[in-house]
Amino acid sequence: MKIGIHDLEVATSHYVLDLDTLAEQHDIDPNKFRIGLGQDKFSMPAPDEDIVTMAAEAAQTLLERHDVSKIRQVYFATESSVDQSKAAGVYLHELLGLPANVRSIELKQACYSGTAALQLAINAIARNPEEQILVITSDVARYALDSGGEPTQGAGSVAMLISADPNLVEIEPGSGLHTTDVNDFWRPNDSTTPFVDGQLSLDAYLAATTAAWDDLAARRELSVDDIHRFLHHQPFTKMARKQLAAMAEHTGCELSDDLIEESMSYNRALGNTYTASLYFALTAQLHNNAELAGKRLGFFSYGSGAVAEFFTGVVQDNYRDHIYPQNVAKQLDNRVELTYDEYRELHESFAATSETFTTSKTTNAPFRLSGVTERQRRYEAQ
Ligand code: CAA
Repeated sequence: MKIGIHDLEVATSHYVLDLDTLAEQHDIDPNKFRIGLGQDKFSMPAPDEDIVTMAAEAAQTLLERHDVSKIRQVYFATESSVDQSKAAGVYLHELLGLPANVRSIELKQACYSGTAALQLAINAIARNPEEQILVITSDVARYALDSGGEPTQGAGSVAMLISADPNLVEIEPGSGLHTTDVNDFWRPNDSTTPFVDGQLSLDAYLAATTAAWDDLAARRELSVDDIHRFLHHQPFTKMARKQLAAMAEHTGCELSDDLIEESMSYNRALGNTYTASLYFALTAQLHNNAELAGKRLGFFSYGSGAVAEFFTGVVQDNYRDHIYPQNVAKQLDNRVELTYDEYRELHESFAATSETFTTSKTTNAPFRLSGVTERQRRYEAQ
């Protein structure tokens, strides 16, 4: 039985900052960002947006095409959770009218947990093939102002419907896994921005993803030639180039950047979306290449701290009939560009507080965070 990604949709935030603006204000050559990091812009949420509003928008667009009564579980993967206890996905039940007879949980492991959610969903469907699972990846990557990570901020969500007989990608059995305790990037409970050892994070990413490849290659006869395109977690798109170069050195195979080029267009314009980044890379890959039917994709997932997984999927024959690039274009084009001063003000005004506040109406998205009363987050449809 084939099990995998049946359909997917995306959402991002109201605002965008062009990295040329940041470069100019910080007296940095814009090519450091455009070429050195491989990033053009980053998305930034309005005060009335967060991981829940983006996820609800992505999931609503997705579920308009499906029968929600088949959904038995909602797995919400995020680094930027809004509550220490309540799963973010539970808010979606009210906002989207999801059935009550559904399991809803949140998963965490930095940028990796979307892949854990996907694999858990596949295992669950192997047991109950008639059921479907909604997997949500949604994150706001918010780094400290004037820090090394600042140009790699971003925001976005990818909602995926996981089922038997998928329309888009069958996820093949067998993964390569790697976990190692490393403090390359972490975010204590009392901090709204992460602590990062930049160079260590690059080294840890390369070491863990290569080890994950080795683990799968040892378990399943697999060579790099069996992979038609590689997809990566892209904290910034240059990271995928670095990883491919490391893989070429590690395996002794020549690996051209053509193997990853088509997967980068959305992440260049979004910035880091943590759990969603790998799945934005998949979305871009499916949208940017019409000749993928029957071809194998190799997925490199990485979450600092650190967990990595390498797995594969086969693109299904009629995938072109089930993709909606115009929706992504709309998401990217509708963003409102920030000036540098507006960006700084917005960044400084963010507070992870449960004190009562009301947000001003800013986003045009279908759902918004109206504020907090009685220490409870209040969302509304509009
Ligand atoms: N023209 C072209 N390229 C230029 C340039 C110019 N004028 N000026 C600099 N560059 C190049 C540099 O040569 C360098 O390229 P290489 O890496 O290929 O050598 C690149 O631009 C970046 O320059 P620096 O290394 O000087 O940049 P930096 O010190 O400002 O830091 C960073 C880069 C460490 C990635 C920083 O942005 C950061 O800390 N980011 C957050 C952490 C992160 O994303 N880590 C990735 C792995 S961890 C992970 O994946 C999990 C996650 O999502 C966070």
